[in-house]
Amino acid sequence: MDSNKVHIFDTTLRDGEQVPGCQLNAWEKIEIAKQLEKMGVDIIEAGFPVSSPGDFQSVTQLAKTIKDSTICALSRAVEKDIVVAAEAVVHAKRPRIHTGIGTSDSHVFDKLRLTREQVLERAAFAVKTAKKYVEDVEFYAEDAGRTDNEFLARVCEVAVANGATVLNIPDTTGYCLPSEYGEKIKYLRENVKGVEKAILSTHCHNDLGLATANSVSGVMNGARQIECTINGIGERAGNTSMEEVVMIMKQHSSLDYFSNVKTELLCETSKMVSELMHMPVQPNKAIVGSNAFAHSSGIHQDGVIKNRETYEIIDPKIVGAQDSSIVLTARSGRAALAYRFQKINVKLSKDELNSAYSLFLTHADKKKQLNNDDLQVILNELSIRV
Ligand code: KIV
Ligand code: ZN
Repeated sequence: MDSNKVHIFDTTLRDGEQVPGCQLNAWEKIEIAKQLEKMGVDIIEAGFPVSSPGDFQSVTQLAKTIKDSTICALSRAVEKDIVVAAEAVVHAKRPRIHTGIGTSDSHVFDKLRLTREQVLERAAFAVKTAKKYVEDVEFYAEDAGRTDNEFLARVCEVAVANGATVLNIPDTTGYCLPSEYGEKIKYLRENVKGVEKAILSTHCHNDLGLATANSVSGVMNGARQIECTINGIGERAGNTSMEEVVMIMKQHSSLDYFSNVKTELLCETSKMVSELMHMPVQPNKAIVGSNAFAHSSGIHQDGVIKNRETYEIIDPKIVGAQDSSIVLTARSGRAALAYRFQKINVKLSKDELNSAYSLFLTHADKKKQLNNDDLQVILNELSIRV
């Protein structure tokens, strides 16, 4: 196994689908799963089968349909959950059960009302039970981000001793700083007996906008699986977004990490998930937002027209985006206007461009953005025939 390969675990259909209004029917789930498989996603978390008969059905169908990606089902550390998850993935070519329990003081003492010893017993029981059904068992320590490292290491040790193949360290509340989260992964790598038998996984929420930074910090400290979603959707402020982590690895090739994801399918997949989940993508979203490759201020436009790389670190083609765009607003300069006229095969003399630019500013102050029809109006008003 290549030690620098980072496994991509997509949880759009589980953590993402928990978002109010984002629920999908079985057909929609299958369409998204097929797209994730086509992209080269290593593991698809298909759902939480015990949560509803509908979810059980969708996970079952996905398990029968998807062949190249591992199909993972979520469960709590509860026998019934695990048995139902096992039933749902029984037909999968590569099945995985994802089971676990809360480990922070607030989860252990307030939510679960258990002792730490009882949590260790439940963790052991959950992994052992899941192992009866599948070889590939991922264990999650919910709220690991706020769990003290010593206890977290004990829980992870128990999980590995009982056969966990992946140790998921969720920053469930999105609380950690990147340095803190990275230290946590490093601590576990250095202090969990048997840790080399399992892959450490990041699962970061975005409550402070740090999900991507934390995931990358986790990888730089030894994690080799990132849990993420398309467009960063997920509980509350969302999860780590797949497009961001995949492109960070690609653009920073000196880090030497890589994933199997076909990046040229990122924009197409983002659009598909956004449409099926009725969840618009913010225009300034990194990588897949509609403004990610749009340039609107005069200074930037002049630079991009001369050399795209002046203001773009990613070639839009690599992520399947349309070409970079020069947007015409009241902040645009002459270079941008000339460029857009050229794009519609209109070459203006210096004087014509100056007149067109004055008129353009008058229009642009009234209308936020000008399109090719507006350019034609300007030509007509100046009586320029082309
Ligand atoms: O955020 C979280 O802790 C989770 C777990 C169930 C893995 O989603
Ligand atoms: Zn989560």
